[in-house]
Amino acid sequence: MTDTTDIHAVYGAPPRDVIEAPEGATRFSPYVPGSADFAAVPPASLASATLLAPPATAERRHVLALALRALKPDGRLVAVAPKDKGGSRLRKELEAFGCVVNEEGRRHHRICTVRRPDAPVGLDEAIAQGAPRLDPGLGLWTQPGVFSWDRIDPGSALLIAHLPPLAGKGADLGAGIGLLAHAVLASARVEHLTLVDLDGRAVEAAKRNVADPRADIRWADVRATGLTPASLDFVVMNPPFHDAGTEDRQLGQTFIRQAASLLRKGGTLWLVANRHLPYEALLTELYRTVTPRADQGGFKVIEAVK
Ligand SMILES: C[S@@+](CC[C@H](N)C(=O)[O-])C[C@H]1O[C@@H](n2cnc3c(N)ncnc32)[C@H](O)[C@@H]1O
Repeated sequence: MTDTTDIHAVYGAPPRDVIEAPEGATRFSPYVPGSADFAAVPPASLASATLLAPPATAERRHVLALALRALKPDGRLVAVAPKDKGGSRLRKELEAFGCVVNEEGRRHHRICTVRRPDAPVGLDEAIAQGAPRLDPGLGLWTQPGVFSWDRIDPGSALLIAHLPPLAGKGADLGAGIGLLAHAVLASARVEHLTLVDLDGRAVEAAKRNVADPRADIRWADVRATGLTPASLDFVVMNPPFHDAGTEDRQLGQTFIRQAASLLRKGGTLWLVANRHLPYEALLTELYRTVTPRADQGGFKVIEAVK
């Protein structure tokens, strides 16, 4: 980016019936594989930024601060969020950065419009608080906003506790920062492992966490085709069941279908899920045997052989 005077940015996916981003705006989103990195936009370079602010506080303040840093003086920021997912806190957070806020409401969202102040305050601190870091407790690279970013998910821990040493070629679908992959690659008989995740920040962390020549780490949507080599010996996953913050059981079911299409006959799926999720009927339809291997703390571990 050299002359960015007229560049407009849109971050995330602000609902179109709430706010329209300027036509031709450059899209930034950790959930759109291949999209540009918002943290890499040069300071004071954008004419405007329109964003759907994330629900979690550290992530939201990080993104707001990145936007304010990226705007040229007097550039316009429009930040939107559902009232109950951070929207009611937007105004105060922007005022704390030194902004004068014009706030409106539309369709259960708050819309805050500001001009970049001459001397915003606290941007560096908010950016640092939401930035990638090596978490000493986890011993892994992580970032606020990625799945279970500061603790080991109990479902994933249960799966790891029941996972036998695997062998051959496999995939970790929805690999996050690489926790399961770490456990899988502990087996010397694993020849190749493809990690796939939709969250570009998790993928960046996984690249640092899983420095293993057998690993191929991809920023991609599991719903896409041609993700991994076919005829896999195994798939591991803790599938997501939320899409854009709302429970979506079909997403987990799509992961199960994709795993079945990637596995060879006799290949094995190891899956952990919240106990209440209705995956058994689909598993029985697609796999030759379906065996519960653990049921603990609200989670179930299932082994399914195709
Ligand atoms: C429950 S987390 C599991 C993460 C990791 N495997 C672990 O055990 O810690 C599910 C992961 O799926 C990812 N995800 C959600 N939707 C996805 C999609 N459509 N394609 C690929 N990954 C997706 C999320 O970003 C998240 O990292």
